[in-house]
Amino acid sequence: MTELLYQSGFGNHFQTEALAGSLPRGQNSPQKGNHGLYTEQLSGSAFTAPREEQRRSWLYRIRPSVQHLKNLVETNLDLIKTGPDISNFSIASPLRWDPFPQISDRSDWLSGLSTIATNGNAALQLGGAVHHYVAALSMVDTVFVNTDGELMFVPYEGALLIKSEMGDLEVSPGDLAVIPRGVKFSVDLATSHTRGYVCENYGEAFRLPESGLMGINTNASARDFEFPVASFDNTERPTRIVTKMNGKFFETEIPHSPLDVVAWHGNLAPYRYELRNFSAIGPTVFDHPDPSIWTLLSSPSEKIGTANIDFILFREQWRVAENTFRPPWFHSNVMSELMGLIEGIYDAKAQGFRPGGVSLHNSFVPHGPDSEAFQKASNSELKPEKGHNSLAVMWESRYRWQPTTWAMGLTELQPDYSERWSGLPKKFI
Ligand SMILES: [Fe+2]
Repeated sequence: MTELLYQSGFGNHFQTEALAGSLPRGQNSPQKGNHGLYTEQLSGSAFTAPREEQRRSWLYRIRPSVQHLKNLVETNLDLIKTGPDISNFSIASPLRWDPFPQISDRSDWLSGLSTIATNGNAALQLGGAVHHYVAALSMVDTVFVNTDGELMFVPYEGALLIKSEMGDLEVSPGDLAVIPRGVKFSVDLATSHTRGYVCENYGEAFRLPESGLMGINTNASARDFEFPVASFDNTERPTRIVTKMNGKFFETEIPHSPLDVVAWHGNLAPYRYELRNFSAIGPTVFDHPDPSIWTLLSSPSEKIGTANIDFILFREQWRVAENTFRPPWFHSNVMSELMGLIEGIYDAKAQGFRPGGVSLHNSFVPHGPDSEAFQKASNSELKPEKGHNSLAVMWESRYRWQPTTWAMGLTELQPDYSERWSGLPKKFI
């Protein structure tokens, strides 16, 4: 594969053309498009949104999108659920899963996608979903467009090539990628198979969080977010398009590839980010800080500081705090936490949380270090030490995550998870 080029800078206004002279200069919609291209605007915010919220791109393409989504017929992708999901399992207990199973060795990214949990309501643009995917095949002549939410890919095994109408992104374990709502894409495998998590965000698009007293030079830096350059597919070959709208799936077939954008400019586009570019900060004197200091991207809600979904990264770090229980403490939080593990060992869980697994602790469900982690951290010598080489991620929401029927029926759901804390002795003297 030739090495892909990227443009960098979160929120930047980019311009890119795969064919010289295809991008209009100085205006958006000339009477005749260069090279006979059609002009099309893709907006990701209302036209009248405050300027800092405005997101849109102008696309110059071989055929307009109005030729793509016609003669749609409803189709089923049974394992992909959308909030509100009608399943009604208990959300009052802590839950954890071993790594999720292979669904089929014949699955591509879309057919291998299954929903772990949903919250909120896609029609009301509240909340989101967390899915798991396993793929052994590339999506051949199939393109997907999700109108319900943006999609955040977080692979933990194998590499992907996401071919979007605005250009291509390579994504491997240790990276994330986000495809905005309404952008068509296909997923090729860059390795023999791939597995990972996908967060679907129905709410406000992810953006860099407020940094407050931390200043501008820590956590994720805008310059490390990479956006594709334009590339296009001019093939005349039957292509299946699948779309999701308010949780329903529709499909059609058109006689050509819809990934035919030759040039584009604007600030709405897919992007990727290498997670180890995240410069985590932590306590240098004593006590364990709130995990919000590791927020990488945030989808805000109308309630200030109370996210629709925060994406939080826990990576290896030096621990130096004195007279401190260094892992996360016992807690019951108002926010609901769904965690995945990409690699390594997560601090607060000595056993049972493995890459590809998931833990779920909803609002006010008490949790914290398991018995073994508690004993170890309570008695270890507090010398400076670097934690395990690990990447753990969390999607934290103001709305409770509702697990799906599929997830609750898996043998990978650990029946004894609540017992992880039963070994904590009475220590009162
Ligand atoms: Fe927690």
